[in-house]
Amino acid sequence: MSAAPSARARGRSARSRDASALVSLPQRPIGPEALRRRLQQAGREDWDFSKGRIFGSMCSQPHPAAVQASRRFTTANLGNPGLCPGTARLEEEVVSMLLDLFHGPAFGAGGHVLSGGTEANITALWMARNATQREEVVLPESAHFSFLKALDLLRLTPRWVRLDELGRARVEDFRRWVGHRTAAVVAVAGTTELGAVDPIPEIGRIAEEARVPLHVDAAFGGFVLPFLEGKGPPPAFDLEVPGVTSLAVDPHKMGMAPVPAGVLLLRHREASSSIAVASPYLSSPEASGLLGTRASSSVAATYAALTSLGVQGYRRGIARVLDLTRRLVEGGEALGLRTAVPPTMNLVVFHHENPVAVQTWMLERGWDVSSVRSPSGLRFVVMPHATPLTVSKLLLNLRSALTRFPPGGAGSVAR
Ligand SMILES: Cc1ncc(COP(=O)(O)O)c(C=O)c1O
Repeated sequence: MSAAPSARARGRSARSRDASALVSLPQRPIGPEALRRRLQQAGREDWDFSKGRIFGSMCSQPHPAAVQASRRFTTANLGNPGLCPGTARLEEEVVSMLLDLFHGPAFGAGGHVLSGGTEANITALWMARNATQREEVVLPESAHFSFLKALDLLRLTPRWVRLDELGRARVEDFRRWVGHRTAAVVAVAGTTELGAVDPIPEIGRIAEEARVPLHVDAAFGGFVLPFLEGKGPPPAFDLEVPGVTSLAVDPHKMGMAPVPAGVLLLRHREASSSIAVASPYLSSPEASGLLGTRASSSVAATYAALTSLGVQGYRRGIARVLDLTRRLVEGGEALGLRTAVPPTMNLVVFHHENPVAVQTWMLERGWDVSSVRSPSGLRFVVMPHATPLTVSKLLLNLRSALTRFPPGGAGSVAR
């Protein structure tokens, strides 16, 4: 279900344990110069998207207007919306623009700006469980690990749907599992590991017939699929499909907003009431969301990204990353690699029997790539910070890595 833990992650957790053993709260203020030096040092240790060497992350260098907007709204807290009516209005406009983009109905729909895909997925299942009072979730094996958290927190039982050879959820398994115990059905538009898009119209029909909520996780694909050009209309995946009741989409992935920014769209605005609690001492009588205090600078940042780019800007950005993805695929194939599935978006997995060895080798040379376990492969997310030059350099390094760890083994997506 998830990308294998990276060598970098293992190194980082060891380092942070060492550091925390030495540090205590200073007795006296350290002063602005010492603070500046310390923060500068920490910042230098972090990976920098602008260098274009990160191919294992779904985040990128945000749009400059979004960064600026985020700084302007550092104190906004939509957990207490009466104190920031201007930010609340921006949230309504963000939700409205995205409902329009994702074919929401003209009346009665709603949504929330959240911290990301994890919060959106947990919230969607929370609403579905409370509304149906049932205990099972039917979801594909490709679902992001945030659903494991949701299942655990909400004490829901998974009914796993197998994948076909292209990494898409098998419709017949939904037919098998969806029934009177089902609290929610989940489908994915742009899976984390392969970028696959589930057959959402067919899944929607099953959910609609059974009258159960269908949540679509488009955290990654949401800002890609509507802007694809040249290959005919993109597959229907959003609120255009009648059975879809909620949709998660992440501005902080392909939406060019800074972290954290996720959005949960709801076909029926009142779905939120199933998770509402009284919040008597705040400016609104009820709160319906996982968080209390909300870092609402993400609302302004998302608004800025959406309006600064517009449909044209997103289309241009997607065309650019898809062109780089094509170069990566051609370059990889010239090195003897084979894609696990034909890429539909800016994400490529090449079969490899020992991807962690290649990943570690690349990491030691300053390249962030990731690995997946099923099928065993090397995974590259070609985000907007990539350039033709960095893709060429990546391929050169990959060539060296593959002379030590040559590819082999076909593997299979279907589990
Ligand atoms: C399809 C999908 N859903 C959900 C998530 C979780 O998103 P976040 O990390 O923003 O919580 C991810 C993250 O990669 C994802 O790819």
